[in-house]
Amino acid sequence: MRTQVVIIGSGPSGLLLGQLLANSGIDNVILERVDRDYVLGRVRAGVLEQGMVDLLDEAGVGARMHAEGLPHEGISLAFDNRLHRIDLTALTGKRVMVYGQTEVTHDLMDKREASGLTTIYEAKNVQPHDFDTTSPYVTYEKDGVTHRIDCDFIAGCDGFHGVSRKSAPQDVIKTYERAYPFGWLGILAEVPPADHELIYANHPRGFALCSMRSEHRSRYYVQCPLNDKIEDWSDHRFWDELRRRLPKEAAEKVITGPSFEKSIAPLRSFVAEPMQFGRLSLVGDAAHIVPPTGAKGLNLAASDVRYLYSGLREYYLDKSSAGMEAYSAKALARVWKAVRFSWWMTTMLHRFPDTDAFGQRIQEAELDYLVHSQVAAASLAENYVGLPY
Ligand code: APR
Ligand code: PHB
Repeated sequence: MRTQVVIIGSGPSGLLLGQLLANSGIDNVILERVDRDYVLGRVRAGVLEQGMVDLLDEAGVGARMHAEGLPHEGISLAFDNRLHRIDLTALTGKRVMVYGQTEVTHDLMDKREASGLTTIYEAKNVQPHDFDTTSPYVTYEKDGVTHRIDCDFIAGCDGFHGVSRKSAPQDVIKTYERAYPFGWLGILAEVPPADHELIYANHPRGFALCSMRSEHRSRYYVQCPLNDKIEDWSDHRFWDELRRRLPKEAAEKVITGPSFEKSIAPLRSFVAEPMQFGRLSLVGDAAHIVPPTGAKGLNLAASDVRYLYSGLREYYLDKSSAGMEAYSAKALARVWKAVRFSWWMTTMLHRFPDTDAFGQRIQEAELDYLVHSQVAAASLAENYVGLPY
């Protein structure tokens, strides 16, 4: 088989890239290790920057998002038993869209199927080859048979644990990492959210976040020790802990109910440089991970896609390699700013086991400064709604 671009991974990065390319007449095949339902079963983030909303529109998959997504114009920071609203729209002129990654993925998969584009699910042992030449290819196994796809470019959209980054020459790739000494315990419940906007809470017992998927489905998180087990957290214990970490006015509005998803995720920052090795480009979680505190993971995947898509369009439509040559540098410039923002939000909002009394006072001063200075609030807002592409 031959195609122009082989995309490894059918998460949001791979699907969005594939759709944008196909709309521009650029052939692509997606190879995915697991099946469609497995991909859709992953519960992940839910806040989209305007830039990502625009890109989904450009890909022709924005209709359900506009109908069912919730545009938000602010968030609240909670500390010292009070809520402090950050008016994102007044400060930046922009809004964010609350719409789950699962729904984005669903819409992209439906569109791909309707467009008759090829996705090979349950492709095992996917391997990129010869990407340091102008004729790379990818091999994979399906039903015990080995297949080969020749192509011009390979897009590594296969997430943090994928094969693409591992295939990069080890003497060229450099990685940067920070692990945080806690995790997030998250639940989904079919109950109306405590507030119509998100609440990020800093509390002596630890961070908490009130988020949502719709007007009748809530997503809540509490900071927890890394070695906690899901079995340690009954629904009752979760709701109790969440309410204790929120200001009274918010805690009173929490509507409890049975959770239908509960998981613990570690928090880390990770960046691989460069994001391109000859004809193999890394996109999204394959190249970088951010802690979820800034809601940037999915949005960074979208900006990578935007840059790579532009580069590929230039290559095929304008016969210029300039965009492809600039991909890694362009993507990384935006990635590092989001990595900084996510690290900063995480540092400001969580309780760190080794923070001393001085460190604690600095954290309190930072929050106080933020909610009393327009300039400081504007900086948070500018990053939260998304820096320009
Ligand atoms: N071969 C083929 N497919 C693979 C391989 C492999 N060796 N390894 C992983 N995959 C697939 C995974 O099964 C998954 O469907 O690649 C896909 C990667 O998807 P994601 O992990 O969702 O990564 P990405 O598309 O970059 O999404 C961006 O932003 O908010 C964050 O973590 C969140 O997933 C989200 C990410
Ligand atoms: C979520 O709704 O899952 C969510 C929202 C905001 C974040 C992180 C996660 O910062």
